[in-house]
Amino acid sequence: MKIGVGCDHGGFVLKNSVIKAIKESGYEYVDYGTFDAEKSVDYPDYASLVAKAVLNKDVDMGVLICGTGIGISIAANKYVGIRCAHVTDSFSAQMSREHNNANILALGGRISSEEDAYNFTKIFLQTKFAGGRHQRRLDKISEIEREQCK
Ligand code: RB5
Repeated sequence: MKIGVGCDHGGFVLKNSVIKAIKESGYEYVDYGTFDAEKSVDYPDYASLVAKAVLNKDVDMGVLICGTGIGISIAANKYVGIRCAHVTDSFSAQMSREHNNANILALGGRISSEEDAYNFTKIFLQTKFAGGRHQRRLDKISEIEREQCK
C-alpha cells in the first residue's frame, strides 16, 4: 500500500507524525509537499495533487493536512470519487473507514497534536471498510455525483 501525503504551511507541523504512522503501519508514502511551514501556500493545490494521485491509482489512499483540516477536505471532496474525511477524534478516524470507506484522511495542524495525528493516521490505515448497508449508502453518494456532473 502506498499513501499520498499533502499539506499546506498550516499543516506542515503534523507531516512527520503522519509519515511515522504510515511507515510503522508497513506502508510506503509519497510526499506531495509542501516542504516547510514558512512559505504561505494555497491548500487547494495540495488537495488536488493528492486527490488526483488517489483517482489515478498512483497511491492507494491519502492524508491531507491544513491549519484546520477544513479547507483541504472541502477541496479534495470536489473530486468525483474522493471521500475525504475531516477527523479530529479517534472514533471518527475509525468510522471514516468502517462506515464511509474514506480514501483520504484530513487533519488540522492547528487543531490536533502530533500524538493525535499519529494515532488518527494509524487507526485510519488499519481499519477496514465494513461493506454491507454502508456500501448501499456510498452507492447513493456516487449517484449524487453522477447527477451533479451531468
Ligand atoms: C491557512 O492559513 C489556513 O487557512 C489553512 O491552512 C486552512 O486552515 C484552511 O482551511
